[in-house]
Amino acid sequence: MNKIIYLDAAASALKPDSVINAEADFLYNSYANSGRGVCARATAVDDMISHVRDKVAEFINAKSNQIVFTSGATDGLNRIVNILLSQPWYSSSSVVTVSDLDHHSARLPWEAALHNGKVHKMLRCELDENMDIKIDAIPKTDFLIITAMSNVLGRAQDVQKIIASARAKNPDVITIVDASQYVVHHKIDVKKWDCDFLVFSGHKIGSDTGVGVLYIRDSEKYFPDKFGGGMVSSVGNINIASKAEHGAWIYENEKDSCWVTESAPTKWEAGTLPLTQIVGLGVAIDELNKKRPDLDLIKYAYDELAKMEKIKVITSRDAAILTFVVPDMHPLDIGALMGAKNICVRVGNMCASWIHKYLGVTGSVRISVGPWNTMDEIKQTVDVIKQIVK
Ligand code: ALA
Repeated sequence: MNKIIYLDAAASALKPDSVINAEADFLYNSYANSGRGVCARATAVDDMISHVRDKVAEFINAKSNQIVFTSGATDGLNRIVNILLSQPWYSSSSVVTVSDLDHHSARLPWEAALHNGKVHKMLRCELDENMDIKIDAIPKTDFLIITAMSNVLGRAQDVQKIIASARAKNPDVITIVDASQYVVHHKIDVKKWDCDFLVFSGHKIGSDTGVGVLYIRDSEKYFPDKFGGGMVSSVGNINIASKAEHGAWIYENEKDSCWVTESAPTKWEAGTLPLTQIVGLGVAIDELNKKRPDLDLIKYAYDELAKMEKIKVITSRDAAILTFVVPDMHPLDIGALMGAKNICVRVGNMCASWIHKYLGVTGSVRISVGPWNTMDEIKQTVDVIKQIVK
């Protein structure tokens, strides 16, 4: 068996030919910077970005000016904290609520803020017997982090109900959704969910690395967190009153150094965007809309592995991934032994230490599928696991 069986889609998806070809075509034939040129080639790049932005907006039921391109979900999650903490109205007496489902990148920026005295208290959502967020037990909080699908457990959370429950306790709560895993398997509707912020990475849905999406509901309301080219509309001796419109912010120091931001989404995108990756993101969304991973493969693996005495499957049969532990084997050993048979799976804490701690283990083995995987590959994988875990 020389062919690789790639079962690590949840870490990063393989790229469809259409994504690779579109990116190569852009690099060979159409490349130019965006937002800076006036020649036809440069304005065509601006059009391409608008087109992909519109597509992303439609994909999650948002408006185009609420969509910000980032370098990935981690970037988005860190930026959200920087944005919120730098608003003039922000108070360090704020309470943030997280959960044990969170990926490190969703929670650590808040832990750092707590450590630096910029957040008063961190609370945790309770989990129920299925390890889902207990909707009725969500505490009163100023900020709520919601992992829409844990990258270890693969269960879709009822984000709409979670947010409604949080708003019932505090109508002004700011809700932040990490949809990095959820987006692969389910349609997102930010309007229905009523969330304030949402992030996902492009590379998990089949586009290139280096691009992500940050949704900001009130995208005109906030003062930006990054400064540089493109996001400034005018600098210097300007008529501030006439410029301060459409959600622009004015920075005033001396008369000569006052400047006005562009309105959203431009004000959020300082510097050159990952243009090639944005091309790929548009195509990846088209592909995902046509075909999502076949979760019957996960159900098959579940049915086979759950009946093995030595294996403890952590995930439920209807989850989007399968995660297991073998009590007397280290996950890294299992990963290496499977790797030696050309099967790629993820092992370790998966940047989600808290759920492992909750489960009383230090790491696990995760099988995740993409649209390219077949039932035959899963059957071969189950056979290999049976040989390894005797
Ligand atoms: N956080 C990614 C994963 O789940 C990389 O593997």
